[in-house]
Amino acid sequence: MKLGVLISGRGSNLKSLIDACAQPDFPAEIVCVLSNNPDAAGLAHAARAGIPTQVFNHKDFARRETFEALLDEALRAAGVELVCNAGFMRILTDGFVAKWHNRQINIHPSLLPSFKGLHVHQRTLEAGVRISGCTVHYVRPEMDEGPIIAQAAVPVLPDDTPETLSARVLEAEHKLYPMAVRLIAEGKVRVVNERVALNFNGSDAAGPLFVPPLASE
Ligand code: GAR
Repeated sequence: MKLGVLISGRGSNLKSLIDACAQPDFPAEIVCVLSNNPDAAGLAHAARAGIPTQVFNHKDFARRETFEALLDEALRAAGVELVCNAGFMRILTDGFVAKWHNRQINIHPSLLPSFKGLHVHQRTLEAGVRISGCTVHYVRPEMDEGPIIAQAAVPVLPDDTPETLSARVLEAEHKLYPMAVRLIAEGKVRVVNERVALNFNGSDAAGPLFVPPLASE
């Protein structure tokens, strides 16, 4: 499956997808990386892996639709089948989201539908929850909404700061995102009535429900 990855910044989730795609048995490849931020550090990950990158600086466009038309064109020109938002911090219009309906996914650093939006870890700590995590979901017009494909739970520890919690959740993100992409590329994910149905049999059935182990295996 051909992936197009949208980034705005650091690109650590992009890096986890690049590493997954480098495995011979991984059923997807990244064909383009697009950024709205010319200074996104993640662009270097793509360049090192020999993946074509393009920058469309949203500040250069008076209209959001013009910016998105270029994104759309670049994705189609590269033959993208699945768009992966990986720390892409621009809100997309309903028109763009409709064009990629059930073909665009996002990762968010909370157990959705809790803690949508920004400053997630700060708000998670303020709320005093004991378990946080991350979610991969299909993109819908409302920010951080859409059918949930996979989630990982991550403990909140008593001394956590937004930084330490963010780092622990990020480790889980780096396992969850490739896992979710694999499920989609293997045709195991269907959206039925705005919920995700996973096609599994036998002992695989609980696969996506496991918390990804934090230590490397
Ligand atoms: C990640 O934690 C991702 O879940 C979050 O931004 C970070 C990007 O990091 N995305 C959102 O909050 C989307 N609502 P990265 O650039 O290192 O992948």
